[in-house]
Amino acid sequence: MSQISHLLVKNKINSIDTDVVLVFQNDKQKPLEQFVPEAYREVVGELAEKGSFNGKQGSMQFIRFGGVMPAENLLLVGAGIAKDLDSEKLRIAFASVYSRLKAEKAKSAAVHFDLFEKGLGSNKSMTSIKAARAMAEGLTLPAYDFDKYKTGEKKEDSREYVFITSKKATESKLNSELKQIAMSLEAISVVRDWSNEPSNYGTPTYFAEESVKIGKKLGLKVKVLGETECKKEKMNLFLGVGQGSTQENKLVIVEYTPKTKAKKMKTLALVGKGITFDSGGISIKPSLRMEEMKHDMTGAATVFGATMLAAMMGCPNRIVTVMAFAENMPAGNAIQPGNVITARSGKTVEILNTDAEGRLILADALDYAQDFNPDVTINAATLTGAVGIALGKLCCAIMGNDDKLIRDLINAGAEHGERMWQLPLWDEYFEDMKSDTADIRNVANDTFGGTIRGGIFLKQFIRKGMRWAHLDIAYSSSATPHAYFPKKGANGQFVRSLAQFAMKF
Ligand code: BES
Ligand code: ZN
Ligand code: ZN
Repeated sequence: MSQISHLLVKNKINSIDTDVVLVFQNDKQKPLEQFVPEAYREVVGELAEKGSFNGKQGSMQFIRFGGVMPAENLLLVGAGIAKDLDSEKLRIAFASVYSRLKAEKAKSAAVHFDLFEKGLGSNKSMTSIKAARAMAEGLTLPAYDFDKYKTGEKKEDSREYVFITSKKATESKLNSELKQIAMSLEAISVVRDWSNEPSNYGTPTYFAEESVKIGKKLGLKVKVLGETECKKEKMNLFLGVGQGSTQENKLVIVEYTPKTKAKKMKTLALVGKGITFDSGGISIKPSLRMEEMKHDMTGAATVFGATMLAAMMGCPNRIVTVMAFAENMPAGNAIQPGNVITARSGKTVEILNTDAEGRLILADALDYAQDFNPDVTINAATLTGAVGIALGKLCCAIMGNDDKLIRDLINAGAEHGERMWQLPLWDEYFEDMKSDTADIRNVANDTFGGTIRGGIFLKQFIRKGMRWAHLDIAYSSSATPHAYFPKKGANGQFVRSLAQFAMKF
């Protein structure tokens, strides 16, 4: 469950228990005391002289004054040399600030913004408002615990973070920035909650119901198709994957339409993989860490979160979000290797591995989404384990058929520290995915380029002229090494990138 953090802007402090002060350095790595509030200049000078704190990037010093200074405590944060500071460094530094404040049981913390702004002066690549965003993200993104199923007293961790400025213009800019962060946190926390939900509770029906509930609150149109309706839609690949499960497949369609329709309004289709548990099916997975496969619906959660956030921000474009929820289980009636299934698009697919199920459900969901005539279609999926081998956990893989679209998405991600790395989709990769029996096989002959094979399979279901991108978010969407995400479980990454793309494309 998310923890409550209040982000506020004020022009003066009443009673704050911890002052958070960023300390810049000059070229000789000496602290620049003129950017430190006057009350603390002497302390900073003394610490520098002793060599215990000099403002170096990544350093921190906590001092308990117990009443003799303006605040009870002071937390000095090394900002290094101003021109070298960037958003990512600030997010990381403020994630440490968050941990320290939590450990010290601070109830409120103040960032003295005017002096920070002055100190940042010579930095050309980052505005002070962007810096404030990064600080606020560092403070709030790690604050999450999935304690829904813990009995007993829940640990409450709520704190007030106050940005102090005496300038009216800065105050209003900071306010709108922090408001946006609060919205992001709300969407991200839904993604985390959904993804972390154990699959005995987090069934396709559960996520369909949650979508309806949240959709209602945000004024989104939500439609749910059960198996009978999906059969009418000829979504045989989608149904095939869920065939061995006692849980009913649900296709959830969420529509956001801007209140005032601009002439130039475009439509974005978002499609998400929603496998509520991936056992592998008849091609069953080894039991080691199989429990992690409850997260196999994170693609669906991510596109839902992005839709929520875009709606909250009053996105000027229309969004159609399609989430394909199913459970992949072995059973007497499950699909088997060698089975041939006709996709919604009419193509026939030979299933050689029932564990490559994500691409099957997405093939039908992508085809369904394209019926809405979107200008751009983007899907997110925990599609392949191979993406972790190729890229590690720090970024997702991005593939597609339109370089500008891919560049725009990568840039939208970069603004939030959400990294995407492009992999190629050359048609040669498809050569050994042609089947002897059907049109396409769902896996290649070997395991090389596994992530690309997933992408090239999806590409077979993208209609002519459709601009499309595929994000493989396996391994980058949960338990990542980022300093500013929860250490365990889903991180809610890529929600901000996708929402921002929707705002601007
Ligand atoms: N859900 C998995 C991918 C996955 C693996 C996500 C590890 C997160 C962590 C996907 O459905 C899958 O099993 N893919 C197979 C594809 C293979 C059979 C071609 C894989 O990656 O092994
Ligand atoms: Zn699988
Ligand atoms: Zn899967």
